[in-house]
Amino acid sequence: MATFLAFCGSARKDSLNQKTLNCVVNALHAKGETVTSISLNDFHQPIYNGDDETASGLPEATVRLKTLLHEHDAWLIGCPEYNGFMTPLLINTIAWASRSSEATPDLSCFKGKPVLITSCSPGPWGGLRAGAHLKTMLSGIGCMVSPDNFMVSSAFGAFDESGKLKDENLQQRAEQVASRFCELANKLLVPASAGMTG
Ligand SMILES: Cc1cc2nc3c(=O)[nH]c(=O)nc-3n(C[C@H](O)[C@H](O)[C@H](O)COP(=O)(O)O)c2cc1C
Repeated sequence: MATFLAFCGSARKDSLNQKTLNCVVNALHAKGETVTSISLNDFHQPIYNGDDETASGLPEATVRLKTLLHEHDAWLIGCPEYNGFMTPLLINTIAWASRSSEATPDLSCFKGKPVLITSCSPGPWGGLRAGAHLKTMLSGIGCMVSPDNFMVSSAFGAFDESGKLKDENLQQRAEQVASRFCELANKLLVPASAGMTG
């Protein structure tokens, strides 16, 4: 059975994108799937600078993150929208993860990796534009980004106090997306250790 890693491009305490991502993660948990949820707050990486990499190699947090990216068969990524684009946190995270280390060679953790993108926004478009940019970026480095996504528009009023979606139809959509992504991930399943060299 495929294993899933979930992380969000907003590290904000009350992140709406984290809540949106959690809807699909919880639906996977309810199906008995194995999902590891991480916060990028626990993987602090400086803004990527090639001189720093040349001098010091990859930050310890990058190596830890890349190991997790390798170890899981599929990823779910919460993608907030800043000015029609991805957040600096998400771009920086993927920039560092795309660099080499001895144990996790360049781009190997991205190759053939099924990815589901979730997004939300306070407006009517649900973070659609940022999600499309993330899909382009990840596809360009080898990921198999799901044609499905899960988006929540008008997100300020979308969740109750416990973080659950108020709209039952949207909740059902989260469950459908979770089921379809699970099927996709299992179809594309490769051994978690494939591509690891150390
Ligand atoms: C710098 C910045 C730019 C933003 N640009 C957009 C945007 O282009 N489209 C949009 O729908 N919301 C935009 N927003 C609003 C965010 O979608 C909103 O703050 C959201 O709650 C951020 O995600 P989070 O709650 O997961 O932290 C922007 C917010 C910030 C801080």
